[in-house]
Amino acid sequence: MKTSVSIMPKVPGAEPPPASPNPLEAGLVDQFGRRATDLRISLIDKCNLRCTYCMPENGLPWLKKDQLMTLDEVVRLVRIGVDTFGVRELRLTGGEPLVRHDLVDVIAGIRAEHPDLPIAMTTNAIGLEKKAQALADAGLDRVNISLDSIHKETFAQLTRRDQLEKVLVGVHAAAEAGLTPLKVNAVLMRGINDAEAADLLAWCLENGFELRFIEHMPLDADQNWKREGTVSAAETRALLSQRYDLSPTQENRDGAPAERFDVRDRGSGELLGRVGVIASVTEPFCSACTRTRVTAEGRVMSCLFSAEEYDLMHLLRDDTKSDDDVAQRWAGAMWAKPAAHGSSRPGFEREGFSRPERSMSAIGG
Ligand code: GTP
Ligand code: 5AD
Ligand code: SF4
Ligand code: SF4
Repeated sequence: MKTSVSIMPKVPGAEPPPASPNPLEAGLVDQFGRRATDLRISLIDKCNLRCTYCMPENGLPWLKKDQLMTLDEVVRLVRIGVDTFGVRELRLTGGEPLVRHDLVDVIAGIRAEHPDLPIAMTTNAIGLEKKAQALADAGLDRVNISLDSIHKETFAQLTRRDQLEKVLVGVHAAAEAGLTPLKVNAVLMRGINDAEAADLLAWCLENGFELRFIEHMPLDADQNWKREGTVSAAETRALLSQRYDLSPTQENRDGAPAERFDVRDRGSGELLGRVGVIASVTEPFCSACTRTRVTAEGRVMSCLFSAEEYDLMHLLRDDTKSDDDVAQRWAGAMWAKPAAHGSSRPGFEREGFSRPERSMSAIGG
């Protein structure tokens, strides 16, 4: 009799991670003693902008709808994160989360189970005008909006879309709906928007928004990142100091990516607000990392630069698998979290560093 070998289609990322030696109640701990309590879930990889530091001009092959975690799957993951692992805060990301039609329901579903969980969302604000109030009513607490320039031409050059007006309307709608404290994320690109850094800060201060400058990381789909091209945190501080007095805030940073500064008027010394600088390249903060990421198709990325991804989706979609089965795999993935920048040491230029194949849009900031 002939024996037939059934060849199962391979699920990428389905190989088991090393087992974590800890009980699940220990949380998402890694071998370096860090514990992840900040959960970031990407809801969709698609986006309507094409920021040069993230997406290629023609976009990427988007995931199909049935490849994305469903509302119920997202709600279940958050439940496991909070109830089993003690996750303390949630960030919803993309791509662009507003592109997902059931976004309001996703947030309402999470909020119904976790009345006190801080829920933030990172968005480019296109379409936020229509949805801001519904999102706030559903239980979203606040938004971080990606905005690199308030000048029409520069914005269009950076995002490859002439959509600044729509973004600005969305920003103001978010503020009116109380999605605050509202933070603005900006990536400075040399020769394009770096000379506008202080203008952007002035605009944020006037409107009561907290601006964060993020150093450009090698997560662009075009793979054009160069260390020399990165506008460093030190350069950013120098650019801002031409117009304002900056002094570090007296607070415990507590694993946060941003180093925050009080911004004062040069003449009067009046406190105008705060600004943050996220120095992922030149002053890495990996030793205090508290983050665990799940991509839109349900894979754990223990680090933004992880080479390994561990799929949870095949477990979420298998009726014979329990929440504890999902949790075991998630804990194992996090136990294997690299020390820094996806490796044993920080640094994007040293030998041995290989960037993930994914762009930021396909991971989730
Ligand atoms: P709040 O939590 O709202 O205060 O915001 P935040 O300033 O901490 O920023 P957020 O968590 O939105 O992250 C802002 C940006 O910092 C992200 O979009 C990433 O570009 C970068 N970033 C965030 N987390 C990490 C991380 O774990 N590693 C690295 N290298 N960069 C990160
Ligand atoms: N380097 C640094 N930040 C990036 N972002 C997207 N791509 C990159 C990159 N290559 C930021 C965007 C957005 C956030 C989710 O990530 O500014 O606000
Ligand atoms: Fe879209 Fe955000 Fe990437 Fe820009 S940075 S292309 S808004 S996902
Ligand atoms: Fe954490 Fe990795 Fe970011 Fe470092 S590079 S802060 S380890 S996610």
